[in-house]
Amino acid sequence: MEQTLVILKPNAVQRELIGQLISKFERRGMKITAMKLTRIPLKTAEQHYEEHRGKEFYKDLISFITSGPSVIMILESMDAVDIVRSMVGATNPAEAVPGSIRGDYATSPGHNMIHASDSGEAAEREIELLFKPEEIQEYRLAVRPWL
Ligand code: RTP
Ligand code: MG
Repeated sequence: MEQTLVILKPNAVQRELIGQLISKFERRGMKITAMKLTRIPLKTAEQHYEEHRGKEFYKDLISFITSGPSVIMILESMDAVDIVRSMVGATNPAEAVPGSIRGDYATSPGHNMIHASDSGEAAEREIELLFKPEEIQEYRLAVRPWL
């Protein structure tokens, strides 16, 4: 099984859409192994988006992601990284297909609702950055054999 990291960004919380978004992942068959509502500290946000440091959107990105509480989750399934990225849709909501989260809920790249790890290595790095080991639950999902 593979794990991936998802952030429901501060506008998802403000727009009261977190329940709908979590439901999509549950319905797809993803197992939630960790979840918290938290305001991401500035330093952590800078480390999380390190690859974008210096780009023209970087300052706005950091100020947005730290502007209020986010919901952070670890999701687990076969091919979790690719499955969740396809559910999330293109970075620019104008290019995100209807049915994807960004294609259904967002209009601007800066407020595109949700983050998902873009590779297995990124997922490992982001999980280590955002969760302590004791915050991650190991348990058996009863429906697993049916997914
Ligand atoms: P994320 O990391 O948030 O899941 O998004 P992503 O992989 O689809 O896109 P990425 O290239 O990693 O960009 C990170 C976030 O920066 C903002 N962005 N704005 N104005 C722009 O051209 C632009 N490009 C990127 C977006 O909020 C994007 O989610
Ligand atoms: Mg990214």
